[in-house]
Amino acid sequence: MKLLYGRMLADKLDGEHGLPRPRLQDLMQRFPGVLAEVRSRRREGEYGFYELGEQAETVAAIRRFAEGVGQAYDHVLVLGIGGSALGTKALVNALRPPAWNELDDEAREFYPRITILENVDPTSIAAALRRIDPRRVLVNVISKSGGTAETLAQYLVVRAWLDQALGPDAAVRHLAFTTDRSKGPLRELANREGIAALEVPAGVGGRFSVLTPVGLLPAALVGIDIDGLVSGARRAVQKAEHESLLANPAALYAALHWAADAWLGAKIHVLMPYSDRLRELAAWYVQLWAESLGKRTDRRGSVVHTGPTPQGALGATDQHSQVQLFMEGPYDKVVTFVRLEHHTEDVVIPSREGLPEEVAYLQGHTLGELLNVEQEATSAALAKMGRMNGTLVLPGLSAESVGELIMFFQLATGFAGAWYGVNPFDQPGVELGKRLTFAAMGRPGFAKEASPRSGGGAPADIAE
Ligand code: PA5
Repeated sequence: MKLLYGRMLADKLDGEHGLPRPRLQDLMQRFPGVLAEVRSRRREGEYGFYELGEQAETVAAIRRFAEGVGQAYDHVLVLGIGGSALGTKALVNALRPPAWNELDDEAREFYPRITILENVDPTSIAAALRRIDPRRVLVNVISKSGGTAETLAQYLVVRAWLDQALGPDAAVRHLAFTTDRSKGPLRELANREGIAALEVPAGVGGRFSVLTPVGLLPAALVGIDIDGLVSGARRAVQKAEHESLLANPAALYAALHWAADAWLGAKIHVLMPYSDRLRELAAWYVQLWAESLGKRTDRRGSVVHTGPTPQGALGATDQHSQVQLFMEGPYDKVVTFVRLEHHTEDVVIPSREGLPEEVAYLQGHTLGELLNVEQEATSAALAKMGRMNGTLVLPGLSAESVGELIMFFQLATGFAGAWYGVNPFDQPGVELGKRLTFAAMGRPGFAKEASPRSGGGAPADIAE
């Protein structure tokens, strides 16, 4: 994987915008301090996700588990939210053929279908449970804390559905939990009922957990090469050990994005893959960048209200939607493209007699070629308009390249935490909303919270 970053720099743009090259020198000089901070926090156990490139035993255990149960089920139902769902969606989107669930058994090589429920929208859940045969499903309930209201509510609904169809004893054989090794309600339920349970490593937070059993188990169940994912991740970690900023792509991505935000006011960070199969990866990145870097206070406790706003886009589709804004709107964005050198499959645009020349020029090219040409053209056009952008080039979509890309973004987020001076691993900002929900839903111990239902937080002004 390569990071093309020239078009972040003023001398490759319109001369007026972008990062002046001497500023890159500044970043290079400051990088040893950032690297030292990351290394020291790693030693203290904060950056646990670095270890996920070296987990041969876990991978083998997951593979055994998946192979053992694989034959018995033809549908995997994943319940989770946030970091417990987005990564799995990204893996399935990237590494299983499009419309996986619509393929017949042979086309799926007899691997199961998969449904990932990441919300408590009753319409989606009711529809999924009507569609899935409870006799043939493995339900993987994923929650690191084991106490997330949405996931537990999903579980209770799905558990009642299983119990009713199969009886409570048989239902247990259709469940696998992925949760903390010893803490939390899910672990307690697993212990009490003898439900199979895999561990989320203690030092790895939700949005950094796709390369733990959180993402690896569902991935293995549907036939994704999880060894490949992990070896790609290992390659990214090795590159991230480089002490020179320019030889360390994840650190460079973080430094350039921080500089664009802090020095040039480019606070909107767009990730725009030119591949339908990376659409969900962009959604995963949005959570990673937003929840890790959007913070009220810095590491020293000073109020800073800092953090870039990540945004997902899809090429070429969003050339006809968002690119107008990127080209001519405020200079507040950095766009990162992802381009595949080789598409898993390519399609030749056929020739046809008598076409007008505005159509005929397309003949004989391929769709993959058109997609990549459009990516480069959009990047060049943005540069001409003084718009900072970079491109991540992947050789193609394989378990290795996707593992490397995922770990690249996790590493970049870890480095960015150090540049922004914030803790990228907590999310205190989501706590208040959770407490208000608990109060409104009658959870013991939360009655005193001003709940939306009791009027404390309800908007008084209504327009209809
Ligand atoms: O990144 C995070 O920590 C969060 O997005 C969590 O993944 C999300 O809140 C779900 O938490 P849990 O896995 O504990 O159910």
